[in-house]
Amino acid sequence: MHQFEQISTLQTQVKKWRQQNKTIAFVPTMGNLHLGHLSLLEKAKQLADKVIVSIFVNPLQFDDKADLNAYPRTLDADMTLLLDHDCDVVFTPSANVMYPNGMDVHTTISVPNMDDKLCGLNRPGHFDGVATVVAKFLNIVQADWAIFGEKDYQQLSLINRMATELNLSTQIVSGPTLREDNGLAMSSRNQYLTSEQRSHAAHLYRILQDVKARIELSVDSFDLIQQQAMSALTELGFVAEYLDIRRTEDLDRADRQDKSLVILVAARLGKARLIDNITCDLA
Ligand code: PAJ
Repeated sequence: MHQFEQISTLQTQVKKWRQQNKTIAFVPTMGNLHLGHLSLLEKAKQLADKVIVSIFVNPLQFDDKADLNAYPRTLDADMTLLLDHDCDVVFTPSANVMYPNGMDVHTTISVPNMDDKLCGLNRPGHFDGVATVVAKFLNIVQADWAIFGEKDYQQLSLINRMATELNLSTQIVSGPTLREDNGLAMSSRNQYLTSEQRSHAAHLYRILQDVKARIELSVDSFDLIQQQAMSALTELGFVAEYLDIRRTEDLDRADRQDKSLVILVAARLGKARLIDNITCDLA
């Protein structure tokens, strides 16, 4: 397995593979790898001859400096996991390599109507930071496929929209959310939870499943279902940011006419901000 920190050395390797007619899949991450990340790596390996994983804690997507500083950085353990899972290349650029002119004056990509709702509402600039770094990575790597998790549903929708509208040549592929046995979606942020909170956090997925069942089995309005789910979260000790029933197509508010739905939630438990979602197809 090679590790590259510079764009030029990574691109030399990519060029070599291209001369050998190898296909390439790319998995961008911020490190602190868990089984969810590794499932995307496995998917990448099924698709392509060669797999590149990036590890970069992207400062541009953190609106809160304390959150950026606290983000777990576990490069040695990540490298061991990637080696064990037959990753071909790990790209670990510094912030200087990614933003040589600094971040304040950097060209940014915004994806309108995708970046200003749900997780974008309380995290100004977050999705511009994600779109910008992902666009840069896709341009640098020039992979055939890039794999993203459905766990971050809004991020995936935004990247799909950006890749289509900017005519990027890499095909965006998604992978399902990996969960703990109790249903809690795996996340680097779960380590901010105590073990007691970790089992309690499983309620988040249970509530999503309940909402899905009510959409399918009752005639209640989506507003009522959402309000009651928010109250249930509060009663369980979560500080709920939102629980919304949206259209998968554009993440706009859904009503009973819509058939392809996604229920998204963001809530704080203790020190962790947790997000999750579940899709619901009524067609
Ligand atoms: P990070 O949170 O490290 O996630 C990297 C990828 O792993 C994302 O595509 C995310 O959706 C996926 N992922 C996270 N938890 C998962 C789980 N439980 N099951 C399956 N996939 C999961 O998302 C980011 O980094 C960054 O925003 C990034 C796209 C790298 C841009 O900086």
